[in-house]
Amino acid sequence: MLNVILLGPPGAGKGTQAKTLSERTDLAHVASGDLFRAALREGTELGMLAKSYMDRGELVPDEVVIRMILERIQRPDCANGVIFDGFPRTRDQATALEAALVDKHQSKIAAVLYLDVPQDVLLRRIAGRQTCKTCGATYNIYYFPSHRPGICDACGGKLYQRSDDSIETAQHRLDVYFEQTMPLIEHYRLQGCLHEVDGRREISLVTEAMLIALSLNGTAK
Ligand code: AP5
Repeated sequence: MLNVILLGPPGAGKGTQAKTLSERTDLAHVASGDLFRAALREGTELGMLAKSYMDRGELVPDEVVIRMILERIQRPDCANGVIFDGFPRTRDQATALEAALVDKHQSKIAAVLYLDVPQDVLLRRIAGRQTCKTCGATYNIYYFPSHRPGICDACGGKLYQRSDDSIETAQHRLDVYFEQTMPLIEHYRLQGCLHEVDGRREISLVTEAMLIALSLNGTAK
């Protein structure tokens, strides 16, 4: 079992990389933001609660996120291991995850891949992001737009811009990241499992660097 955390600021490419890594390995992709957006689409209480925080660029309360993620990793697709995307984001979340893995006699966090990207690049990536309403594929109007504007290449679905991707909210999400999530870099460095990955490079090069850090470059699909 291999548990991997992708750590990095909004727009660093966590979702993009987690999706590819999951497809190329037997690891499940568990993304807290995606789970909240799915809950919102389903109109659940959890979705409505999360939206009230997400729209402001604030973190959803720890107890809500922790409960959701610990339930999610009980599912059978997580048996071989998980790529955590967007979780943990606070010290309490990190501690809860570590305790849960010990409790369930699962192996601890094998690696934390920290995606380092400068702030000006992050804001441009966020401002240019478009996501498919139907299949969740991600595009970027600056870096790799869909062939037909507003239409997903993969499934023909409609592309939309996330409501929390406005410049003001994105800037606030970055401030929240610096204050509440960045301390986790040191937390995992001290545990000896932190790998820094230069996230400015082309997407495929970032993926290869991650596979090398995980020693999976020889076995990944
Ligand atoms: P979440 O959905 O997790 O958003 P985020 O962490 O802010 O990250 P993003 O999705 O913005 O960026 P990403 O790093 O995944 O980048 P992506 O691959 O899309 O969280 C949203 C909200 O939910 C939070 O604000 C909070 O309210 C709540 N929440 C979630 N988890 C929580 C938690 N644990 N605790 C509390 N609250 C929580 O890439 C971005 C763009 O760049 C895309 O267009 C992509 O195509 C492009 N791109 C990616 N890589 C490259 C590259 N190498 N070169 C050029 N372009 C690239």
